[in-house]
Amino acid sequence: MKKFNIGFIGCGFAAHLHAQAYSRVPGYHANLYAACSDDEEQTKTFVEKFGFEKAYGSVEQMLSDSNVDIIDIIVPPIAHLGLIKQAMDNGKHVICEKPLNGYFGNGNDDKVIMYKQVCEELDDLKQFLIGRKEQLFYAENYIYAPSVIKIKEIIETTGEKFLLLKGEEAHSGSHAPHAALWSMNGGGCLIRQGCHPLSALLYLKQAEAKRRKEDISVTSVLCDASQVTLRLPSDERGSILSNPVDVEDWSETIVTFSDGTKAVISSGDMIVGGVRNSIEAYTSNGCYEGKIAPNDAFMCYHTDASKLSNVYMTEKVETKAGWQYVFLREEEMRGYVGELENFLHCVDTGEKPESGFEIASETMKVLYASYASAATNQRFSLE
Ligand SMILES: NC(=O)c1ccc[n+]([C@@H]2O[C@H](COP(=O)([O-])OP(=O)(O)OC[C@H]3O[C@@H](n4cnc5c(N)ncnc54)[C@H](O)[C@@H]3O)[C@@H](O)[C@H]2O)c1
Repeated sequence: MKKFNIGFIGCGFAAHLHAQAYSRVPGYHANLYAACSDDEEQTKTFVEKFGFEKAYGSVEQMLSDSNVDIIDIIVPPIAHLGLIKQAMDNGKHVICEKPLNGYFGNGNDDKVIMYKQVCEELDDLKQFLIGRKEQLFYAENYIYAPSVIKIKEIIETTGEKFLLLKGEEAHSGSHAPHAALWSMNGGGCLIRQGCHPLSALLYLKQAEAKRRKEDISVTSVLCDASQVTLRLPSDERGSILSNPVDVEDWSETIVTFSDGTKAVISSGDMIVGGVRNSIEAYTSNGCYEGKIAPNDAFMCYHTDASKLSNVYMTEKVETKAGWQYVFLREEEMRGYVGELENFLHCVDTGEKPESGFEIASETMKVLYASYASAATNQRFSLE
């Protein structure tokens, strides 16, 4: 079995998701080799928990280790672009968490300027990637979720056109303090959560275009993004975890494609009841509903939540009492395992990933076009 040494940059929440998923990738030995972060204590605990061979005190030390084959970047978005270039310049393949890049100023800055700046950075990265032997992988798990793969299979078989695509990711708010700040995340729930279904919908639309030999792109977006909990008194915030400073906690984006068809992306940091991840697609003959979470593959009813305190149900659910949608095989159903399997296969064979620079770049452009639309109160055309 082919072995690859993985080096993690970042040892927080999402690093745990990746570490768990690597051990389930079939066909390859993804060796959890080294990890580093800007928090020495957290790195130590993380390395011990997952049995990494080395804990490095700095990114530079880890990148100079010739045993590291692949760098997995799992840090806040503000650091993504710089680390991608640094790691690739040191000869490493790179897996980067979402979103690929962003505008990290103040949330009140001009959103049209944000869009332009993000597009310029993407052009610059595109140039940087030309002719390199190292590959860039975009860790968008939705693209590898079995329900998204199934919709793709059906559309490739039937050759039908998606008339309407819908996607949602929402929950009661991020655990991470940096999620409240535009300066760290480049936006709020739209970029943090909406990016997932958006990438999946763009990916499916491209699969349709390829099958039908059409050239389809996004022409415009219409978006509303705001803080709907702004005037909620602190004693009325209930189970909502998010505490946005200068970012939105709700958004709705309508995408118009060049063939006149539509996609709708919903995101929210103010929806209680556990994480909501879904994709829907509608053609002239079919309706497809990918209920990633919640799904009812296994339901559990219990009267005493205290007895279930050590039983995992699903992410961010506020109570374990009553009926529960228990998330079975979460790493597979959310796409993490398939994603890492595809990336290791590509490193092995030199093939291009399903989720790479192109889909990441398109996602970023639509996200910042959405912010520009919301800020200007009008439909925004993409360049
Ligand atoms: N795909 C998913 O389902 C998913 C879920 C959550 C988060 N994410 C993404 O994962 C990334 C990390 O989010 P998180 O929730 O794990 O955050 P986190 O705050 O829990 O962890 C961040 C980690 O990065 C480290 N770090 C921060 N800046 C650094 C730097 N400059 N150099 C080295 N280490 C640095 C921190 O010490 C910490 O270990 C983000 O891009 C986020 O969007 C993805």
